[in-house]
Amino acid sequence: MPIYLDNASTSYPKPNVVIDTMASYMKKIGATAGRGAYKNAKETDNLLFNCRKIICKLFNGSDPNKVIFTSNITESLNLVINGLLKSGDHVIVSSLEHNAVRRPLKTLERDKKIQISITPCTTTGITVPADVEKLIRPNTKLIVFTHASNVIGTIQPIREIGKIAKNHKIPLLVDSAQTAGAYPIDVVKDNIDYLAFTGHKSLLGPTGTGGLLINCDTHMSPLKSGGTGGDSKNPYQPEGFPTKYETGTPNTAGIVGLGESLNYLSSIGIDKIRKKEEELVDYALKRLLEVEGIKIYGPRDTKKIVGVISFNLSNLSVEEIARELDSKYDIAVRAGLHCAPTAHTVIDTLDRGTVRIGIGYFNKKKDIDILVKALKSISIEASKGKIS
Ligand SMILES: Cc1ncc(COP(=O)(O)O)c(C=O)c1O
Repeated sequence: MPIYLDNASTSYPKPNVVIDTMASYMKKIGATAGRGAYKNAKETDNLLFNCRKIICKLFNGSDPNKVIFTSNITESLNLVINGLLKSGDHVIVSSLEHNAVRRPLKTLERDKKIQISITPCTTTGITVPADVEKLIRPNTKLIVFTHASNVIGTIQPIREIGKIAKNHKIPLLVDSAQTAGAYPIDVVKDNIDYLAFTGHKSLLGPTGTGGLLINCDTHMSPLKSGGTGGDSKNPYQPEGFPTKYETGTPNTAGIVGLGESLNYLSSIGIDKIRKKEEELVDYALKRLLEVEGIKIYGPRDTKKIVGVISFNLSNLSVEEIARELDSKYDIAVRAGLHCAPTAHTVIDTLDRGTVRIGIGYFNKKKDIDILVKALKSISIEASKGKIS
């Protein structure tokens, strides 16, 4: 098994209980949800509703029916962005958005003439909430902020931005891809109207799961329409939560697995998970600095970041570093622009990209030690001209 340091892409390994529960569901229950009155179908309905309840509890939502299941956070973000914004509307975003936010917005800018304002931040990704307020216009209809950068890990002041949004009656959509499961989130205290989440990163669930927790009254249009298992004579998508926004057969096995991974996380507690990751990040930041020629991006304060660290090494290309780590040392990291080009503009690596390590709950200090040893060897080899 490689040393896995790509948890910002997807977490690995998954807890055994998740895998066992999914297998057991497929072997023993296996029915679809919302479409049958027989025992196994009803049991599937219960399992899905139970998962909605656990999500609500984890993020302090008030109505399990306002948890909408999607196939990933990209779909959740598209649902809100396309469902709320109309021609001529204005939207405010951070400087660090993933393409899951940037591309749907740029598409609406091109096709529906929406206007996009990008909130400035420092070169380490720190945003001043008052800068968001300065960008508000009479036609601002949405604020979208990533909770933490997937390139440099910087945690954004969501609570304060949410307060500003509330004062101006503008909904706040938060991309929690890098925080859900790794950092405490409370949609009430954090003033979040729409919390988009993905199941397969720090929530430790399977790929193909994600969702949206709605914490406001909404007139959002659905992204898709089709079969819902009921109200079949209705030619349009039925009103009501979650049906209005969920259509087609859901990923039942995946959602059952997600429910189990959330139980697993709850049994540990998010605060404990955060503490462990903070310790690992602190250790990694200190040890990485021992490597000759390394340049680390983002804040050096562990309280300000999640388990995401980007770096460059001497004049080596990021692809070459990742290839060496993989082929010679069996260490999995990610190299490139990480689907977030504006974040690379912030740290001035748009041409070059970065090597990114994504630290997860199952990593150990030993993994960092092995990485640092490998990087030291790569750095020496490079100085001798053996890698270029
Ligand atoms: C900040 C951020 N937003 C969105 C995404 C997209 O996640 P998914 O592929 O699960 O939709 C990612 C994943 O890399 C991310 O890091």
